[in-house]
Amino acid sequence: MSGRVAGRCGVFLFWVEVGAGAGGGRGAAGTPPAMRRDMNGVTKSRFEMFSNNDEAVINKKLPKELLLRIFSFLDVVTLCRCAQVSRAWNVLALDGSNWQRIDLFDFQRDIEGRVVENISKRCGGFLRKLSLRGCLGVGDNALRTFAQNCRNIEVLNLNGCTKITDATCTSLSKFCSKLRHLDLASCTSITNLSLKALSEGCPLLEQLNISWCDQVTKDGIQALVRGCGGLKALFLKGCTQLEDEALKYIGAHCPELVTLNLQTCLQITDDGLITICRGCHKLQSLCASGCSNITDAILNALGQNCPRLRILEVARCSQLTDVGFTTLARNCHELEKMDLEECVQITDSTLIQLSIHCPRLQVLSLSHCELITDDGIRHLGNGACAHDRLEVIELDNCPLITDASLEHLKSCHSLERIELYDCQQITRAGIKRLRTHLPNIKVHAYFAPVTPPPSVGGSRQRFCRCCIIL
Ligand SMILES: *[C@@H]1O[C@H](CO)[C@@H](O)[C@H](O)[C@H]1NC(C)=O
Ligand SMILES: *[C@@H]1O[C@H](CO)[C@@H](O)[C@H](O)[C@H]1NC(C)=O
Ligand SMILES: *[C@@H]1O[C@H](CO)[C@@H](O)[C@H](O)[C@H]1NC(C)=O
Ligand SMILES: *[C@@H]1O[C@H](CO)[C@@H](O)[C@H](O)[C@H]1NC(C)=O
Repeated sequence: MSGRVAGRCGVFLFWVEVGAGAGGGRGAAGTPPAMRRDMNGVTKSRFEMFSNNDEAVINKKLPKELLLRIFSFLDVVTLCRCAQVSRAWNVLALDGSNWQRIDLFDFQRDIEGRVVENISKRCGGFLRKLSLRGCLGVGDNALRTFAQNCRNIEVLNLNGCTKITDATCTSLSKFCSKLRHLDLASCTSITNLSLKALSEGCPLLEQLNISWCDQVTKDGIQALVRGCGGLKALFLKGCTQLEDEALKYIGAHCPELVTLNLQTCLQITDDGLITICRGCHKLQSLCASGCSNITDAILNALGQNCPRLRILEVARCSQLTDVGFTTLARNCHELEKMDLEECVQITDSTLIQLSIHCPRLQVLSLSHCELITDDGIRHLGNGACAHDRLEVIELDNCPLITDASLEHLKSCHSLERIELYDCQQITRAGIKRLRTHLPNIKVHAYFAPVTPPPSVGGSRQRFCRCCIIL
């Protein structure tokens, strides 16, 4: 496997080398040079390796424009292969117009700064979308060259490029005003200064991921939302310094917000999150898992302000109760996915409300919701979502659940997966019966070896079941 990847990298790096020569003759970034100009700018050495087989039928029958169009559908690796076929194909395959979307994730170990610089010269203003996810070798210098050359970039993924710092965002701010999506997750050197730079130079930003950039504080968020009022998605997972004030800025300036992820932003409370609900009526997806201080007030605010909510993840928010989920279910009828893991206070009455009011429910996690019983599952199984929506239900560590629950779910024909780990009352026979109705369902369960019954009177022979099984 690794051999094959290395081989592909070989092809790829070859391309970078041969491509470099033509880069110098390009026009200013932002004005894609014509194909003809590219062909004229080609250096001799680039063709020394080819035999003279350009007279192939395909080259005679198909005009260059058409071949170019075909090449525009190919991925990086295939393009590099085509570039080795003949002189004519080399020119066509390496034409900047084919390199509008590049994903280098598969080559992350081989990508150094120089490679990115060379790519940016080749692609110039053609490049719209680049993923350098996981490319640990790429730093600020390479990204400055990139930003200068690729001023039409719209989607840039730098997730896990841990070497980059605020200097990269400064470059992007200076040259890349069309940027719409930026992923900086795990770029832990990023600070408030980056967000300030983006707000000044990238006003079209719609989606930003700064998950695990834990140096960012409310000042950074304040600067960001001032300049980027069109933000639709913000991923702030693990930004542990953020408190309610940061959320107030978002609530006040981001009316277009659709997706917000605040997982393990441990300092946030009802105050901040309520301002989000009030300011962001278009909210469809909220993750507040791990924000253990939030209460039912959030669920009320969501119900009152965000009727389009589709996804709610509140795992480990153990203060949430049936009261809050009742209001939520009665107002948010579009709910599709709910992660309620370890919302330990909820009971069957939450499931009853969901089964009545939320006909689109597809994925429901109730892991560690220890008060849930078969009766709640019965309502769910008879509910509006049951027959053709419900795809996943997670019931692991729900100790009161028995085989009866599986009976109640047998007519959920869309059910693809059910989690039953540590449901001590579920039996193999119960799962087998469920499978006769839903033959393709994935069931995750584990049956601990049965413990021997307490010996009566001591006459029974003692033996270790584990020893036998092992
Ligand atoms: C980048 O291009 C230069 C020529 O401009 C070339 O010498 C160098 O080998 C290339 N670097 C990589 C890593 O491909
Ligand atoms: C944001 O980054 C996190 C952490 O790498 C990742 O799990 C998540 O998928 C990213 N989100 C988006 C929408 O790119
Ligand atoms: C920005 O973040 C740092 C922590 O990373 C913080 O100390 C500072 O006060 C924040 N605000 C400004 C304006 O830099
Ligand atoms: C969250 O709740 C804990 C325990 O109740 C409390 O000690 C802490 O101060 C609260 N955090 C905030 C930010 O209010």
